[in-house]
Parts: sequence; C-alpha cells; structure tokens
Amino acid sequence: MKALCWHGAGDIRCDNVPDPTIEDARDVIIKVTACAICGSDLHLMDGLMPTMKSGDVLGHEFMGEVVETGSPNHKWKKGDKLVIPFNINCGECRQCKLGNWSVCERSNRNAKMAAKQFGYTTAGLFGYSHITGGYAGGQAEYVRVPMADVAPMKVPEGMTDEEVLFLTDIFPTGYQGAEHAEIKDGDIVAIWGAGPVGYFAIQSAKLMGAGTIIAIETVPERIELAKKAGATHIIDFDKEDVYERIIEISGGKGADSVIDCVGMEASGGHGFAGMLDAAKEKLTRSERTRALEQAIRAVRPCGVVSVPGVYGGPVTVDMGSIVQKGLTMRSGQTHVKRYLEPLTKLIQEKKVDMTSLISHRSTKLEDGPDLYKTFRDKKDGCTKVVFHPFG
Ligand SMILES: NC(=O)c1ccc[n+]([C@@H]2O[C@H](COP(=O)([O-])OP(=O)(O)OC[C@H]3O[C@@H](n4cnc5c(N)ncnc54)[C@H](O)[C@@H]3O)[C@@H](O)[C@H]2O)c1
Ligand SMILES: [Zn+2]
Ligand SMILES: [Zn+2]
Repeated sequence: MKALCWHGAGDIRCDNVPDPTIEDARDVIIKVTACAICGSDLHLMDGLMPTMKSGDVLGHEFMGEVVETGSPNHKWKKGDKLVIPFNINCGECRQCKLGNWSVCERSNRNAKMAAKQFGYTTAGLFGYSHITGGYAGGQAEYVRVPMADVAPMKVPEGMTDEEVLFLTDIFPTGYQGAEHAEIKDGDIVAIWGAGPVGYFAIQSAKLMGAGTIIAIETVPERIELAKKAGATHIIDFDKEDVYERIIEISGGKGADSVIDCVGMEASGGHGFAGMLDAAKEKLTRSERTRALEQAIRAVRPCGVVSVPGVYGGPVTVDMGSIVQKGLTMRSGQTHVKRYLEPLTKLIQEKKVDMTSLISHRSTKLEDGPDLYKTFRDKKDGCTKVVFHPFG
C-alpha cells in the first residue's frame, strides 16, 4: 500500500510499504477514507521529536472503514465507519478508568522508554515516534488500529468524513485548551497561533462565554480564520508588541487566561528579541518558546496559562512570573475520547465550523511530500491539508 513515511528531517516520502495485518484479537484494520496533516507532524518533519526511525509511517488524524477485525465477535464489524482518536487506549488501566486517555498506562509498547524521559509513560500514539509506541500512522491507505474496541467511535448516520475527521485531534485539542483555561462569562482570553488548533480554541472559547478573544498571529489567511472563528481583536506578532497590545486591549488588566496554540516552533516576532530568535532559529534546531514566554508575561496575576501546544523536552520558562503572579498552568496531549460525544453533538447542532479551514484537498498520497512543505511554509494560503486516499 501507499503511505507517507519519515526518512529524516525534511525528508518525507510516499513509499510502497506492506499492508498492515491483524496482530491481536482487539485489532481492526481500517481502510483510510480521510486523513490530515497536523501541526504536530511538522515537529517530526523538522526533526524536533527524538526517536523517529527512517521508514516510520506518519499520521495521527485519520478515519475510515473497517475491512478486517481481530475476532469474529469484535465490537466493530466490516463496513463500520470509524473516527480514530490519536491516542490508543486500553480501557482497563487506572488512567483510562479516570478518563485520562492520553496517559493510558498500557497502550505504549515502549513504555519504558517514555518513563525514562518523562517519569511515567504516556499513551501509545499513532505515527508519532518510538517513544509513543512506534505505531504506524494513518497517512496511508490502510492502518492497523490496536485496542480498537475502546477509543474509536462509529460515525453517526448522515455525517460526512470532513465533518467528523477533526474529532480525531484538533477540535478536541482546541476545546481542551479552552476548557483548561477555565473561561468564565465575559473573560478576556488571549490565544497564540491561529493555525488549526487555534481555530478550534477560538471557537471553543466563544462557546464557553469569553467576552474578548485576542488572537495573536501573523499569516493573513490564518488571521481571517481567527476572525471567522470569533476573535474580537487581532495582534500581528511580527508587527506589534504583543504584551503592550494586550495591556492596551484589556485596559491594563491583562488577559484572564492565555492559550498557547503554537508549541515548540514559535517563530520570531517584533523588535530586537524577534530578530535574535529568527537568527537563532537558523543556527540551531531547537525548541522555541517565544509564544509561551509572551503568554506567561501577558496573563494577569492569578490567571490561567493553558498549553495545548506541544513541547518535547526540557525548555526554559519564567518560573519567577509563575510564582510571583500566582499562575495556574495546565497542559497535556488531548484526552480525545473524553470529548467525542459532546463535540459530535456541537457539530450536529451546527455550533462549530469544521470545514472552512481546509485549504488543500488531495486524493493522492503522492502529493504528500509537497503538501507537507506547503503546510509547513504556510504557502499558497495553506491552512489545513486533507487527503481522501480512495477518492
Ligand atoms: N496537545 C495536543 O494533544 C495537541 C494536538 C494537536 C496539535 N498540538 C500542537 O498544537 C500546536 C498547533 O498545532 P497546529 O496544527 O495549529 O499547527 P500550525 O503549525 O499549523 O499552527 C501554528 C500557528 O502558530 C503561529 N505562530 C508561530 N509563531 C508564533 C508566535 N510567536 N506567536 C503567535 N503565533 C505564532 C503560526 O503562524 C501558525 O499559524 C502544535 O504545537 C501542535 O503540535 C497539540
Ligand atoms: Zn495532531
Ligand atoms: Zn489504559
């Protein structure tokens, strides 16, 4: 079958690889009807996540039709259309029982490796390096879904692939980011990054009652998306001093909560610090925390810092500001399964826009390597790439 594979930093290829096979009674094999490229995939592409191996199949936002099951009495039957959360869940461990799906204790085949890095293991993830289990991902024609009886959800009658595809990751991620921000009616919320995650964080913050939503972004198409999603104010981080503008917009109070929807690849910004960052970026391949730093600075005392943006290893944050201002910080890979039902309801009630952000569609995985670059470089108005590998 065809699949998008990682072969080193900046080197993604469409390869012919063996079809996946059933390995366990709980498995199903999915024929992928839709899959997408996520901002998190860019961290892999840019070589910032360790433990990738040449030939690894990428992709953790995908859905499709069951073509094979691991046992005749499996929960799913051939022909069932499923959305597949990016975390793999055993359903039996303590964390799964607590609903902390992204830190399932039994789904990561390389749990020891993860525990060595983070103290405890994380859940197994599709297509996201060996430290999260080394599972083949879904930017492919077929995928093996382990422990398929727990996390996946059957697509409700009448809903299209593109209406539900983003339930696998970015919609729950934006929503969890807003939920972590503990938004109260009328709050001032500042959101860094109006990429796909930011787009859903803004929509979610609005649904949760935010009164003022400040989006921090520089790419024109993404600024337009932020406005469409409900941002009341835009700050262009390349042209304006973000902190000063937030002080101005909030009448000196600061933001009640801040959400970092950028993660480890924040680009440089305004002024001298921005120039320094841009220079450093060219020289090193390291995690860049500019958005998080600004968020910690701009949030009001006793405010909340929510970090859905992904970081991979130790980075420096201003602990002094966190302590002296009495901040609360919340983060995490998204507990996708927790949100499937309530967010499906929001989609059905047409309270969120699921498809406007899709700028690029393709039926050919062969277009993948080029589309990865287009998405990374934000060229050609690219805000989200979706593949329909079987048309
Ligand atoms: N927690 C999770 O489970 C989870 C799930 C999905 C994605 N993520 C993470 O969320 C982040 C965003 O994902 P995405 O798909 O929207 O990615 P993306 O790369 O498409 O979007 C990031 C946006 O941030 C903007 N940006 C860059 N530097 C900035 C700065 N200094 N200030 C403000 N904005 C800046 C960029 O212009 C871009 O539009 C990534 O780190 C991704 O790994 C986390
Ligand atoms: Zn993702
Ligand atoms: Zn578990």
